[in-house]
Amino acid sequence: MTHSLRIPDLPIPVRPGTLRPGGVGPGDAGDPAVNDVDVIRVRGDARLAGTVHVVGAKNSALKLMAAVLLAPGRSVITNVPRITDIAIMGEVLRRLGCGIRFDADDPVDPMVAHGGVARSRSVVIDVPEQPGTEADYDLVRRLRASICVLGPLLARLGYVRVAHPGGDAIGSRGLDMHISGLTRMGAEISGEHGFVIASAPHGLHGAEIMLDFPSVGATENLVMAAVLARGASVIDNAAREPEIVDICTMLNQMGARISGAGTSTLHIEGVPGLRPVRHATVGDRIVAGTWAFGAAMTRGDVTVTGVEPGFLEVALDKLISAGGLVETRGDAFRVRMDDRPKAVDVVTLPYPGFATDLLPMAIGLAAVSDGASLITENIFDGRFMFANEMMRLGADIKTDGHHAVVRGRERLSGAPVRATDIRAGAGLIIAGLCAEGVTEVSHVHHVDRGYPDFAADLRALGVEVEPGTAPEEPDLTI
Ligand code: EPU
Repeated sequence: MTHSLRIPDLPIPVRPGTLRPGGVGPGDAGDPAVNDVDVIRVRGDARLAGTVHVVGAKNSALKLMAAVLLAPGRSVITNVPRITDIAIMGEVLRRLGCGIRFDADDPVDPMVAHGGVARSRSVVIDVPEQPGTEADYDLVRRLRASICVLGPLLARLGYVRVAHPGGDAIGSRGLDMHISGLTRMGAEISGEHGFVIASAPHGLHGAEIMLDFPSVGATENLVMAAVLARGASVIDNAAREPEIVDICTMLNQMGARISGAGTSTLHIEGVPGLRPVRHATVGDRIVAGTWAFGAAMTRGDVTVTGVEPGFLEVALDKLISAGGLVETRGDAFRVRMDDRPKAVDVVTLPYPGFATDLLPMAIGLAAVSDGASLITENIFDGRFMFANEMMRLGADIKTDGHHAVVRGRERLSGAPVRATDIRAGAGLIIAGLCAEGVTEVSHVHHVDRGYPDFAADLRALGVEVEPGTAPEEPDLTI
């Protein structure tokens, strides 16, 4: 295994192949070359039991880091997960001229007290008076979320050039709502040589915007632009995710005037400038949900701390319908499953519906449940692509468009499989725990993009995990 970390001063452990310099490797964008296989092995017939603490949400922290671009000076974001995507976002900001430092978190991740490595960091960001205006493809292809610098840079500087992120392993991912919303605020936007170029030479103005769909990314970009626009904006059919509430809360602490966060209508009164901030990232409901499903699938007993259980209401309700016992208290919950889970149907929807990011876990649960489940995906057109890998573990899945029928089996069968994206990777590892024999999941650098130390958490919950060995690659030169 070769270590190919080239981004300097990256204080986050990175697996081989995660940040590969140069051109795009074979497979999906940002994929490492085939030689850089990174693997973990789990032994099946396992049961997850114990307590796991969840740190800040990736999908919040990434946008919080972008949002501080709105105010010159030093901002500090705490409870930031120690994952590759955050390291890449740090590099995006560094190339925009910001100073970035990752410090020990305050308060320290409680897992450290149990002998673990801290899975969260505080990020200190020094934003200059005149940040840069370009985010290049080299980084954007590794981190789609880099597109969230579009709104804040346009609002502050009146010009920005961000590489078009393109689609990825979970499907095509449009930008039309980001673009039409910013255009309504007075921006001129064009596409050229793979870049989205936005300018607002006379500044942005408030606008009434109705989103076609409650897009998380479009809502965030538009809010970050509207806070510095002249006059009032209304964003209707806005996304309502807890991460949207988190960013609005932080922006208001910076001096913005946003109301309605967590509802479908956001009212934003533009202000002339914002001030730096210190803010703690909201807990990661998707990581928490992963452990909740893991407990149910392995007939285990897991307590998850660090997340408001209300963020997972629909998901936890599914586990109760499947026969699980769920207790909630403060920012913690416990999931226990004593018998084989019963099949339940799942439909993914924007928040507060069942999260698309938990779809692989819902398929995993269905694959070992008693009965047949109908799983419907409504957010990403390629979300079922990983189902083929699940079938390698013996899962009985038939997909048709955005539906999948999964007939549960008593037990899956361990096999080598490949993580195709963050959530598919986590879902496959957990499914491997319900399989007979050993499951080797390759390309686990995808998992590292979203889960701070998945293997350590599995071990803390009583599971045997080993780093696998990369298979010898045959020489295919002709
Ligand atoms: N869409 C458009 N046009 C747009 C914007 C979105 O067609 O202008 C479509 C997308 O193509 C997609 C759907 O709308 O089919 C949902 O997209 P949305 O904008 O809501 O998602 P996102 O902002 O791209 C975030 C998370 C995803 C999560 C989704 C949905 C981040 C960095 N990513 O993506 O997280 O699945 O919201 O909740 O916040 C992950 O963490 O593994 C992940 C994929």
